[in-house]
Amino acid sequence: IGTALGDGPLKGRHVLVTSGPTHEPIDPVRYIANRSSGAQGAAIAAALRDLGARVTFVTGPASVPAPAGVEVVAVETARQMLEAVEAADPADAAIFAAAVADWHVTEARDQKIKKDARGLPTLGFAENPDILATVSQRETGRPGLVVGFAAETENVIEHATAKRERKGCDWILANDVSPETGIMGGTENKVHLVTAEGVEDWPRMDKHAVAARLAEKIAEALG
Ligand code: CTP
Ligand code: CA
Repeated sequence: IGTALGDGPLKGRHVLVTSGPTHEPIDPVRYIANRSSGAQGAAIAAALRDLGARVTFVTGPASVPAPAGVEVVAVETARQMLEAVEAADPADAAIFAAAVADWHVTEARDQKIKKDARGLPTLGFAENPDILATVSQRETGRPGLVVGFAAETENVIEHATAKRERKGCDWILANDVSPETGIMGGTENKVHLVTAEGVEDWPRMDKHAVAARLAEKIAEALG
């Protein structure tokens, strides 16, 4: 569609997008993370930009570049991502496409852990803050439309429906990431849009097409 920045149905709107994985350090050379290229989040940010929105793009260490024409806030950990989201300007809509690590390593080391003849290292874990739930449940400053993702490997609709209610977001884009779909790491996505009204099954399509369709829906919802 390629409208000039600032034109289009989302002109004057501010939209926040989270994207990419987070990296949770174990020591200076090691981390735990989710598998995520950041491609779907980047495509969503670009599609919103193309409809005229001002986009704040809070991204973990993704393997695809951030789109041009958006305000990029680069973070590493889930806790930093929450901080960046809290510091962003009030948003009309927020899309949480990041694959946030659910846990961080407690007592991450300042120095590289060395192999040790005395035994294997053990790691402690603590739960990360849930950024989507935190924003969805805000009493003031909640974006008018909050959209989450649910990457599931089984019972996709059921899990996504429960997730929407538990977190308090408006929409969930649910996708089946079980290995046999070949979705993980690919250029296509197959999603179901779960809202209070029900479930829309979208055909399997290119991630850019998913992004364009979502951006259109968001523009419609914001009116
Ligand atoms: N999410 C988030 N902060 C977290 C974990 C998840 O903002 N700490 C967001 C993701 O960006 C996504 C949605 O929540 O939009 C769902 O993530 P998912 O991992 O599917 O849900 P979880 O609640 O972490 O449940 P589980 O991994 O146990 O299925
Ligand atoms: Ca999770």
